[in-house]
Order: sequence, then C-alpha cells, then structure tokens
Amino acid sequence: MNAMTPAQLTDRVVEAFGSTPDPRLRELISALIRHLHAFAVETRLTPEEWLAGLQFLTATGQKCDERRQEFVLLSDVLGLSSLVDIVNAADGATESTVLGPFYVAGAPARAMGEHIGRPEDGSPTLVRGSVTDVAGQPVDKATLDVWQSDDKGFYDTQDPSQPAFNLRGVFVTGPDGRFEFRTARPSSYPIPTDGPVGDLLRATERSRWRAAHIHVIVSAPGHRAVTTHIFDADNPYLDSDAVFGVKDSLVKPFRPAGPGDPGDVSYVVDMDFSLAPETAGD
Ligand SMILES: [Fe+2]
Repeated sequence: MNAMTPAQLTDRVVEAFGSTPDPRLRELISALIRHLHAFAVETRLTPEEWLAGLQFLTATGQKCDERRQEFVLLSDVLGLSSLVDIVNAADGATESTVLGPFYVAGAPARAMGEHIGRPEDGSPTLVRGSVTDVAGQPVDKATLDVWQSDDKGFYDTQDPSQPAFNLRGVFVTGPDGRFEFRTARPSSYPIPTDGPVGDLLRATERSRWRAAHIHVIVSAPGHRAVTTHIFDADNPYLDSDAVFGVKDSLVKPFRPAGPGDPGDVSYVVDMDFSLAPETAGD
C-alpha cells in the first residue's frame, strides 16, 4: 500500500469542508487550506517549526487586549493589511492604507477648526480640504474620524500623561464638503516591539519605524468609507515604512504658515478626499 501523498491529504481536507453551506466561507476555507498546505510542502516544515509557529500565534493572541491589537500589527508588518487595501481599492477614490493598532472608536465630536490636542503635543498644524464624490461634487455630512500620535510619537493609549481621546476627534462636513481641524505635527514612531511582532522584526533585522502620519477614516451615507493616512512629505521613513502603508497620493507637504494663514498655526496641510459610491454588499 502506498503512503498518502501531500496532495491526497490536501484534497481530503478540502473535501471535508466541501458541504459548507455559505459559498463564500467554502471558497475562503478551501483556498486557506490549499495555501497553508502548499506552504508546509514547499518549505518542508518541520514539527519543531510548526510548533514554534503555533507558539508565536498564541503569544500574539495573548498580547491582545482592548487597547493593544497585536494581530493587526502582525498583519501590517507582513504587508497583508496593505494588500487587502489594494485588492479592494475603489476607482477614483482616495487611496486607503492601514488602520493600524491604535484606532479607538467613540472619539469626541469636535467643531470644525477645533484643535484635537494640546499645545504641548507639538507644532500647531492646520489640516484642511474637502470631501467630494468621484465626480468632484462636495459630500454633505461626511464624517472624518481623525487620530494621531503626538510629536514624541505616542498615542494617548500608550502615554498615561495624555488625557483619553487626546489627538482624536470626529468632524462632520456641511453641504460644501469642506473641513478643517487643528492638530500637532506628528512625528515618526517605532511600532510597538515589546511583543511577538517585535521579536519577529528583531529576528529578521527589519526597521520598526513608521513614516509620520495623521490617521483619518472618511465616511458618508451612500459612499464607501476610506481608512487612510496623511503622510508628512518631509519624513525620512517614507521609503521604509514598517507596515508598507505609504502611497504617493497620500504624501502631503506640511507647509510653513505664511501671510494669509491663520496666526495660531505653524504649518498648513491641504488634503482632499474622494469617496466612491457604495456598492452592493457594502
Ligand atoms: Fe499611526
């Protein structure tokens, strides 16, 4: 009797999931099994390596809590988060980029123009622009959910000296689609390396630095939401961002404020957002 081959085993496992009623779940699980098995065959994965992998994933899960999402970070450094963004990009819409591990739902609603942080968080910066649809028409009641680190690279959730929801805020446009808010100019920061993802970066001698950015989720009724960043064009890490998040269209100059700009800011950033219409299934 011949020994079972890898291909026979793979087929048998896929078949075992073959009566999954939901067709999409069936497609996903079958492709997952085929790719996982192909990985083990291609690398001739040893039992010790298999166990080390499981222990790594276990540690990744154990590092997660309501404020720390190590699995998102793992997906980010593997480029999977960016790949999912690219695969799902909508024509004509602002390019999306990674959500990252520091998003917190429930940021306070703020008045247009308001500062989302404190003077000590960094150089005061005005960010302004408009939200339009892909035809260029202004979008009324578009919501911008904004969050970022301070000029030392820390989010409120990492830094006990910052009040909750510091450098976070939600803005809603009027019929002209315009928005503006004040914030601190953000700095580069290293992604958290005190967990399993840090071990991975050290073992592979990879950079842990993220290019400086402001996070924004732009959403509006009838439109596909975009999770994206505004990157600082002067930043030295644009070409080596640890999570592969940088896209040229999201890189904007932080222009020194001059005559004609509000007197209370040091930098001005112009950034427009474009939203695609909602599609079936959204
Ligand atoms: Fe970030």
